Amino acid sequence: MHWNRNLALFAAAAITLGMGALKGSSQDSTNEKNWWRNAVFYEIYPRSFADANNDGIGDLKGITAHLDYLKELGVDAIWLTPIYPSPQVDFGYDISDYVAIDPKYGTMADFDRLMTEANKRHIRVLMDMVMNHSSDKHKWFIQSRASKTNPYRDWYVWHDGKGETATDKGKVPNNWASVFGGSAWEWDDKTRQYYYHKFYVQQPDLNWNNPKVHQAFKDIIAFWLKKGVAGFRFDAITTLFEDPAMADEGVVKDKDGNPEIQNGEPVLENIKTDNLPGVHDVMAEMRAHADKFSTNAYPGTRVFIGETYLPNIAELLKQYGTPEKPEFHLPMDTQVLLINKMDASAFRARLEDAEGELGANVPLFVFDNHDNPRIDARYGDGVHDTDIQRVLSTVLFASKGAALFYQGDEIGMKTTPPTRKEDVKDPVGQRFWPTYKGRDGERTPMQWTSAINAGFDSPTAKPWLPVPANNSTINVLAEKSDSKSLYTWYRSLIQLKKTNAAFSEGSDTMLDRNNPSVLSWKRVAPGAPPVIICANFSADPQSVDLVSQGIPEGAITTLLKTPGAADPASLKHVNLGPFGVYIGQLQFMISH
Ligand code: NOJ
Ligand code: CA
Repeated sequence: MHWNRNLALFAAAAITLGMGALKGSSQDSTNEKNWWRNAVFYEIYPRSFADANNDGIGDLKGITAHLDYLKELGVDAIWLTPIYPSPQVDFGYDISDYVAIDPKYGTMADFDRLMTEANKRHIRVLMDMVMNHSSDKHKWFIQSRASKTNPYRDWYVWHDGKGETATDKGKVPNNWASVFGGSAWEWDDKTRQYYYHKFYVQQPDLNWNNPKVHQAFKDIIAFWLKKGVAGFRFDAITTLFEDPAMADEGVVKDKDGNPEIQNGEPVLENIKTDNLPGVHDVMAEMRAHADKFSTNAYPGTRVFIGETYLPNIAELLKQYGTPEKPEFHLPMDTQVLLINKMDASAFRARLEDAEGELGANVPLFVFDNHDNPRIDARYGDGVHDTDIQRVLSTVLFASKGAALFYQGDEIGMKTTPPTRKEDVKDPVGQRFWPTYKGRDGERTPMQWTSAINAGFDSPTAKPWLPVPANNSTINVLAEKSDSKSLYTWYRSLIQLKKTNAAFSEGSDTMLDRNNPSVLSWKRVAPGAPPVIICANFSADPQSVDLVSQGIPEGAITTLLKTPGAADPASLKHVNLGPFGVYIGQLQFMISH
């Protein structure tokens, strides 16, 4: 099972380009400004990336030790999921201090060194910004729950129960549900009111109707920007506001008109606590604030990435704001993440949306993260998984815009959920076991080598989650020296994205649009010979006639193809094996 509508935010339907180099030249300032438009972003889940002190938990020194790896892969920027002090109920997404480093991950000096070493390699660093909620152990909330008259009381969302009197617990204020199950309201006995939490009980929602909350986060954003970070990924951003009328959510009905039930709980429409319009003003305000840091003193655009699970492309478009009042540079296009099947037509539609519906805005595709089963579990067939990942990574890197992927995707790491309830670390997996096993399966340690503990930890250490046995073959060391590996494929695609003008700057036109099995498209950039991409989304061999699609028969140079496949003898017959990919460049310009 994947994130479902109850666990919903994540699955609404189912669950330095060189800071040093060329300083002062106009070329440099253009790069500094536009670096993000075609960038390759790499998500690091620090807990599971590399453990330098062998205490079982990945750390900042571990990340610093692997920056050369990321450089060689071609990564422009890393997004670190939260490394701030946290009780770790939600593994860092419950923050108790926004301007410090959790000792489990290291010290502020370790962070500064990571920044220095990353800058040397022209890798930018983005932080995770969690504005919807804090930890219940944050000093703000400790104050807030101390008394009804505390100055921090209205930093959070408090409400009377439905009882006889205002202080009577009675019933919860309404039927709003937590993403992680159960009511979103938690009774506080001392002050005799309920507080609202969209996520865990230990993650009370901040009150964004309070201007002091706005100012607190502007200060936090300024703190990290002054440290030199290149931007932020804004967590659960669509959930900042709740419907002030406090009306119950509607219940989603199944095809027979009965309430839809998942994990024993009714599925709610989720329109009273998600994607309310207030978020746009907040993001425009934060963006204007951060833009002030894109100055000579702070070179380089500071980029806002959004965790934006939205129902459609029109809602995604709104997250960019307007040229006068910009919001996100790169709200994640999770429409592709949620296709969850090898369906060429669905991918074609999403690519056309990104090309046609977002105007001059830059799309950011993403297929994977630390909240969803890995690509193998959502798209794989158990037989052609590596080739399927070649297809998806081709879509990721050979389409317009920036690209984001998750640590381990590049070597084809597989989802490895716990097999026993007592081993589950993610509380939501404990709650819904065995229907839903939580997110441990996509958070297992990075597989660097075939050794015991995969080079994540020393062989005698005990990683916080077990290393899957498949590290014997699925590991960085083995794949780096294998020209046919998935790692080599990723690296090749990223190199093309950086060096080939049509690949990096082109716009996409779909070809052979009625083909149910093969996704073919052309990328054209002014002044560059076009690139043609054909990707077989099926387990059967396919042949594509590109000549019938207006691509003139003639010389084509192969840029990349599935290992072992032959070059096409003719553009009338581009033959593709099961989940095969062919990428070629025409040796001449075509009019379009
Ligand atoms: C989205 C994060 O990616 C997820 O891991 C977390 O549980 C929720 N937001 C709540 O912060
Ligand atoms: Ca450690």
